[in-house]
Amino acid sequence: MKHTLIAPSILSADFTKLGEEIENVIAAGADMIHFDVMDNHFVPNLTVGPLVCAAIHPRCSKTPIDVHLMTDPVDSLIEPFAKAGASHITFHPEASRHIDRSLQLIKKHGCKTGLAFNPATSLDYLEYVLPKLDLILIMAVNPGFGGQSFIPEMLEKIKRTREIIGKSGFAIDLAVDGGVNKDNTKQIQEAGANILIAGTAIFRAPNYKKAIQDLR
Ligand code: DX5
Ligand code: ZN
Repeated sequence: MKHTLIAPSILSADFTKLGEEIENVIAAGADMIHFDVMDNHFVPNLTVGPLVCAAIHPRCSKTPIDVHLMTDPVDSLIEPFAKAGASHITFHPEASRHIDRSLQLIKKHGCKTGLAFNPATSLDYLEYVLPKLDLILIMAVNPGFGGQSFIPEMLEKIKRTREIIGKSGFAIDLAVDGGVNKDNTKQIQEAGANILIAGTAIFRAPNYKKAIQDLR
């Protein structure tokens, strides 16, 4: 299996000093910055847009930014986030009327593609789009808020997704988002995930370096 990457989710960062928070988690060993975009429509919460992504981009140096779009619609935000420095753009299939078109649009703008699955969303959406995917994100909580508990049934879903990726022969990353903490990362990695996204477990810890090491 590939080396596990740690992606701190900025949702739990201190927004009064976001740039500093990002520099600190990168210095502490973060491999990727997870940027949660919520629209108070697809999910019951509201966060940040391309302007904030562009503001943090220079602070990220070479660390990739995965923009997790919890928005409906999807397509109109792809170009603005690509221009704002996103390396990956990940969206939820239910939020796009034409999933294949959204994936093409992300690639056209030079970003890597990701498809995110809510806990109750079927993996059937993967069937015809695997060749266009760089990342699959399995939500282990219902999206909208940090600090929720990992839904245990998602371990089986992660395993199933890893099997699908294995059979496809494509080098697709498998990320898990929601309720990830040092007590469940071993199981999550054994189930096949190679990217661990964590908000609370990192930004609410006293020492970011230790928190990241504990997750890895
Ligand atoms: C939830 C977001 C997550 C969130 C995870 O809707 O997509 O990225 O920040 O937070 P924790 O790690 O606290 O569950
Ligand atoms: Zn997220």
